[in-house]
Amino acid sequence: MLVYAKNDSLQEKLTSYKSDISVGFVPTMGALHKGHLSLIATAKKYNDIVVVSVFVNPTQFDKKEDLDNYPVTMDSDLAMLKEIGCDIVFAPTANEMYADGLKSEHFDFGGIEYEMEGAFREGHFDGVGTVVKRLFEIVRPHNSYFGEKDFQQLQIIKALVKVEQMNIRIIGCPIFRESDGLAMSSRNARLTKEHRKAAPFIRETLLMAKKKFGTENALTVVEWVTDVFKKHPLLVLEYFSIADEKTLKPITQRVQNHDYRGFIAVMAGKIRLIDNIEL
Ligand code: PAJ
Repeated sequence: MLVYAKNDSLQEKLTSYKSDISVGFVPTMGALHKGHLSLIATAKKYNDIVVVSVFVNPTQFDKKEDLDNYPVTMDSDLAMLKEIGCDIVFAPTANEMYADGLKSEHFDFGGIEYEMEGAFREGHFDGVGTVVKRLFEIVRPHNSYFGEKDFQQLQIIKALVKVEQMNIRIIGCPIFRESDGLAMSSRNARLTKEHRKAAPFIRETLLMAKKKFGTENALTVVEWVTDVFKKHPLLVLEYFSIADEKTLKPITQRVQNHDYRGFIAVMAGKIRLIDNIEL
């Protein structure tokens, strides 16, 4: 496994490959878990070379505290990447990625950037768009893999390659969960024992909401979810939205041939958790 910290040396290596070699790319912020590894395993299956980036991107954090506390576990990340058979790791410094200063480009993704995470985390998707565009320009992959755990981010990246006219296939991968249903996340390690024990309630509520959506309208389901969280002693609901998968706009009325998803963000103490479910 080759590890690069510099754009130039990574690009030099990548251009040394024959042109018919397919490159699969998995961008991450490190603190790797089985969710990340499932993306890498899929990339390995369909590509000749797999590149994984490990970079905690400062411009996508709306709160300095969240950035400062983001877990960094580079040694164990590298060991996991080696074991799974990753070919190339790109682990740049912030100076390498942001030589002109820590600024985000502003993107127009057609409105999906203002819903949910976009509404609650100011500047978040401009930060994500900026870093992923740069990573795509450096790695120039054929295929790139993103988790449905961050479903809105996946849609944003699909919009990014369209807006920027980049010839990269974006592949969404299913959410990987702990055995009690909690979606795997680098942030889970920072939960207190109490909050960790309570957190599977998020998935349980999503499953119940899915069941209710079979017979009741969206508004009633949203009210029900809001209500059960009001009664919860530890978890605080930030939002629950039943939205169209394409526009990510909350729905009032169901329309045939549209796909819907339930999206949730919850504060578990100081830790913000997100999840979603196909409806
Ligand atoms: P990070 O949170 O490290 O996630 C990297 C990738 O792993 C994302 O595509 C995310 O959706 C996916 N992922 C995380 N948890 C998952 C799970 N439980 N199941 C399946 N996939 C999961 O997302 C980011 O980093 C950053 O925003 C990034 C795209 C790297 C840009 O900085």
